[in-house]
Amino acid sequence: MTLNQLLKMKQNQQKIVCLTAYDAAFGHWVSAAGVDVILVGDSLGMVVQGHTTTLPVTLEQMVYHTQMVQRSNSTAWCIADLPFMADATLQDGLAAAKALMQAGANMVKFEGGQRAVALVARLSELGVPVCGHLGLLPQSVQKTGYRVQGRDAAAAEALMNDALALQAAGADLLVLECVPSDLARQISQALTIPVIGIGAGKDTDGQVLVLHDLLGLTLGKAPKFSHNFMTGADSIQQAIERYVTAVRNLEFPQPCHEMT
Ligand code: KIV
Ligand code: NA
Repeated sequence: MTLNQLLKMKQNQQKIVCLTAYDAAFGHWVSAAGVDVILVGDSLGMVVQGHTTTLPVTLEQMVYHTQMVQRSNSTAWCIADLPFMADATLQDGLAAAKALMQAGANMVKFEGGQRAVALVARLSELGVPVCGHLGLLPQSVQKTGYRVQGRDAAAAEALMNDALALQAAGADLLVLECVPSDLARQISQALTIPVIGIGAGKDTDGQVLVLHDLLGLTLGKAPKFSHNFMTGADSIQQAIERYVTAVRNLEFPQPCHEMT
């Protein structure tokens, strides 16, 4: 998978399927199921490490998990998350991106709008593909809580402006988390780069889920926007394939997964 192919998928209105993975076993099975993009997300702090937020995750750990995934992923585009505060300064952000790219990632992702623009622009100049992340920002959860973002007109406009600013700075992809479906559709239409949604309705250019939610392994309550694809599946491999097919055939997400 290449950046150009992902862009073509958006232009041809083919949905992009993205899923998280954190180790070699799943790097293999997720890519074998035909997932287009693997995200080595800092959600591993919650679903693998057992923390209640993503804040404790370190750069060293993100490097370790990226290396494991990339030993077995042969086909999917691989995005690795910069962990909490790794982008606190431009210098830190560049060093963190370097470490993740050298660990084998194809692209780095970090959270935020205007505040992320300078780092996006510099990485873009240096030839490092960048994915933005807007809407609910799990690394800011102590300030915002886990709640839908962009609900009123002013917040929606700010989100749209952030998305346009990231694209203008050179971002190649955007993740939108927990935003009203109408706004996610408007942003997807306004941007030329692909927009991948989670809890953002069906009209983004692609979907992403956390692996453990898809497999029904979530400790505690799974998010409303997720779906357990193991229900009715014979194997883990089949559950992942069912997710891929459901996204491609516009069967996931359903209205019950939308955030309002
Ligand atoms: O860390 C992660 O898994 C993510 C997705 C929820 C988009 O950032
Ligand atoms: Na993340």
